[in-house]
Amino acid sequence: MKPLIVANWKCNPVTIKEAKQLFNSVAKGIKNIKNVETVICPPFVYLPILKQKTKGFSFALSFGGQSCFWEEKGAFTGEISPKMLKDLGVKYVIIGHSERRKYLKETDEMINKKTKAVLLLGLKPILCIENLSQLKAGLRGISEKVIIAYEPVFAIGTGKPCSIVRAKKMRKSIKYPRVLYGGSVNSQNAKNYILEGGFQGLLIGGVSLNSQEFLKMIRDIEKI
Ligand code: PGA
Repeated sequence: MKPLIVANWKCNPVTIKEAKQLFNSVAKGIKNIKNVETVICPPFVYLPILKQKTKGFSFALSFGGQSCFWEEKGAFTGEISPKMLKDLGVKYVIIGHSERRKYLKETDEMINKKTKAVLLLGLKPILCIENLSQLKAGLRGISEKVIIAYEPVFAIGTGKPCSIVRAKKMRKSIKYPRVLYGGSVNSQNAKNYILEGGFQGLLIGGVSLNSQEFLKMIRDIEKI
């Protein structure tokens, strides 16, 4: 299984011009990468424009949504459905990110509904959790093996990554084949979560906005 590196751009950058620049620079750099799967999760509004750019690409670069709604369509102002994402060629959807739990008050129940909706359409959910109770609640009634992202809140966007020892312990207690680590990953510490921590990939926030550092990280991981 190739390591999965997921770039979560969050609410960045603020113009389509910058989004295109960032994307072009990342795409150029991963052209020759064969042993890492890279997923870009831009803000929804940039998805169709960036997806267009991948026509004719002969290398693996997938897209992900940063969230989605649980219904297919209807009177749900402001929401984006998994069906819309699928129609755009999106393959992955991040569900239950701690920023959505905190700022949008997403509950475990909502997250569980979203995960089910994403699976129903054949997309791959990346379920973000920070403890085992969120894992259990998010996966209630789901038997498929979804991708899990262990993201301890104290490590997200703080520059204070989780220690390998602690991350490794958590990895062992998540009995899923594909678990990513996320939280203050940079080009210095990235490899260790895979090599020592036992993770199958990474969820990257801040560093994914810096194409050079992001690419350095991917190249390092390819060498593992
Ligand atoms: P960070 O964010 O890499 O900026 O800490 C990770 C995340 O929120 O997924």
